[in-house]
Amino acid sequence: MRPSSLLLAATLTIHGTYARPLPSLLGDIENFFGSGDDESSGSTTPVSLATANATLLRAGQFARAAYCSPESVTAWNCGLPCTQLAGVQFLQSGGNQGTVPFYYIAHDTVENTLVVSHEGTDPDNLLSLLNDAEFALTDVDAQRITLAAGQGAQVHDGFQDTFQRTADGILSGVQAALGNDSSISQVLVTGHSLGAALATMTAAMLRSNLPSNIDITTTTFGLPRGGNQAWADFLDSQSPVTFVTNQNDPVPIVPPLAFGYKHSSGEVHITDPTTPAIVSCPGQDNSNCITGNSLLDASVANHLGPYFSDLTFGSGQCSS
Ligand SMILES: *[C@@H]1O[C@H](CO)[C@@H](O)[C@H](O)[C@H]1NC(C)=O
Ligand SMILES: *[C@@H]1O[C@H](CO)[C@@H](O)[C@H](O)[C@H]1NC(C)=O
Repeated sequence: MRPSSLLLAATLTIHGTYARPLPSLLGDIENFFGSGDDESSGSTTPVSLATANATLLRAGQFARAAYCSPESVTAWNCGLPCTQLAGVQFLQSGGNQGTVPFYYIAHDTVENTLVVSHEGTDPDNLLSLLNDAEFALTDVDAQRITLAAGQGAQVHDGFQDTFQRTADGILSGVQAALGNDSSISQVLVTGHSLGAALATMTAAMLRSNLPSNIDITTTTFGLPRGGNQAWADFLDSQSPVTFVTNQNDPVPIVPPLAFGYKHSSGEVHITDPTTPAIVSCPGQDNSNCITGNSLLDASVANHLGPYFSDLTFGSGQCSS
């Protein structure tokens, strides 16, 4: 289903349910998709391009490379996404760029960091996954994400199914790489789109299973809401996420707050990619950031980019 159809279907449902005059109806749509009573509204603070480059860009470049063909990622000759990342030693990959999304594990020798990067899917597929699964929440996999046990954390059913298809291979690959090189004490987990949702779950699994001296950073782009309030609170307390949202991308405002979904803290919002104008958003679902956007302005192109510093997702910049 095209994203516009999903949004239209939701709009029609609301219209059918409420049948109110237009201004009130628009308010309902906004509440349905974005802002609601339980959003935060703390003031944003500017993030300079130098800071974004230093703290977010490399993670984004690793996320972008996951869209290139598995062969070219394995050989680290995927074109610009690979050449912009010097000093990378590929270690392991899994998935198939089909039903099991591709991921890879690499050693970033420049930062001496182990990187786990998840491929995303195109926005049409993602919005269709979100729609087909009817926004179903399910109990988090507490066998793999043991730290989240007993807290009422629930996550998107389709995201968790997808996470489970590669979770064990990722955990054993990361453990092997850390065991092989005791100088590495940092892990970066990244991804864009569906890959962003998977990254939050992967990082929470790693936090549940790796020694506490291993520092885990989760930096994602175009993240949809992945679970309920308890999941958002769990992430904030145990496995914090930094997630970059771009202008009027509709993906980060689905599934809707009205369906019990909630973002964790950690949003960095881009209001203009050319200047660029980037802000840090305190709290969960801050109404001054993407949650406060009007659905009527939604732009699926914003999901892909550019974000900042020519960071655009998809396979367009890959050599194969
Ligand atoms: C940020 O990175 C981009 C791309 O590498 C570069 O063109 C730009 O000069 C950098 N800006 C700052 C302020 O670091
Ligand atoms: C283990 O370390 C060696 C030497 O640094 C390296 O060549 C090899 O790729 C590493 N393997 C894994 C799985 O990290």
